[in-house]
Amino acid sequence: MADLFISETRDPTPEPRGTAGSYDDILSQEDRAWLNGVYEKLTVKMKAEAERVGTIIPYAPRDGRYHDLDEEGGLYNWTNSFYPGMLWQMYNATGDEMYRRAAEGIEKRMEEVLVEFQELDHDIGFLFLPLSVANYRKTGSSHARSNGLKAADILAGRFNLAGGYIRAWNDRMAGFFGDEGKIAGYMIIDCMMNIPLLYWAARETDDPRFYHIALKHAKTAKQYSVRPDGSCNHILIFDPATGEFVDNPAGQGYGRGSSWSRGQAWAVYGFTLSYLHTGDQTFLDTAKQCAQYVIANLAVGDWLPLVDYRAPAEPVKYDSTAGMITAAGLLELARHVGPYERPLYGKAALRILRACEKRFANWDPKMDSIMDGGTYFYHDPDGTNTEVPIIYGDYYLIEAVLKLKGKELFIW
Ligand code: GLY
Repeated sequence: MADLFISETRDPTPEPRGTAGSYDDILSQEDRAWLNGVYEKLTVKMKAEAERVGTIIPYAPRDGRYHDLDEEGGLYNWTNSFYPGMLWQMYNATGDEMYRRAAEGIEKRMEEVLVEFQELDHDIGFLFLPLSVANYRKTGSSHARSNGLKAADILAGRFNLAGGYIRAWNDRMAGFFGDEGKIAGYMIIDCMMNIPLLYWAARETDDPRFYHIALKHAKTAKQYSVRPDGSCNHILIFDPATGEFVDNPAGQGYGRGSSWSRGQAWAVYGFTLSYLHTGDQTFLDTAKQCAQYVIANLAVGDWLPLVDYRAPAEPVKYDSTAGMITAAGLLELARHVGPYERPLYGKAALRILRACEKRFANWDPKMDSIMDGGTYFYHDPDGTNTEVPIIYGDYYLIEAVLKLKGKELFIW
């Protein structure tokens, strides 16, 4: 790990580039009609849902209704800010103040975790980017900025200098995926979506410490997570004392060496974001490598993501959340490649969105949640986490649709 904090020749705290722009060149007439129809249904459904939900913090509905904090982890559950993220996106798209008020109410509730912070893990990025950073980016609130910066400090404090990675989980997760190493040595591909909190904090404070940590983590992920064919390891284990690489065991996918589709999606979107924030071309190349692997796997099927691209043919298990994250990531990627490459990523995103929407969307405004078909992990003992609606499926659907409509609030 001798190249830790290698000097970069470029400005270490650049502004994100290329986050705007239309997809007119990618949308066919039929796509446009589909998109307008979905946007119409989305505005109706989200208004009705937000009126019912208020400042509840939802995960998955039961009998068509969201319930407050009904996941293990309570206020600390990593998914808690996807709903306020949806509210900020809808506020940005429609200007309806109801969304802003509800999102601010949820942020007030969530602030508690920054005080009693020991239960927080690396997913503090998922918790505070769609919440406080979204708020700050939209309203300029100094209180929200301060929440975001506290969260960034906590995330930066998880960096392991010897291994050049951000520690993923806390002690209570020890043994969850086997006993291959000390939990302090675990890093996971999902964290590529958490480190944009550090890129943001570096710019906000004009302090490159945060940037160097994010950059080093991304390089470690590129080196050890991404295989030559663009598939990814979910979990990596390092010796937390020496920083030496130890193992890459199975994670939320089928098994060792397989390819968990949501992890692949985090890689597509996450490496694109590391390119966006650093300008390092190798991250863009890695994002394309992962994207092409995912597109190839989806194109031989029906564009509905399996939970794992390398699971046995039976049983067939889908994960629509992987589809929504992949689609949003591919749309972001399409913004950063040349004109002859854009259609590959943009049109693939549309295929995924349209296939998943047709199969899994529930637009009934009387029922909470939109996307069914989400699967938390492959080996689900009782099936309760298999092909069910999960909040982040809805978040990334909304983000992707609003990207296509030119109405997205960029939060990563
Ligand atoms: N921890 C992120 C995920 O399950 O995708």
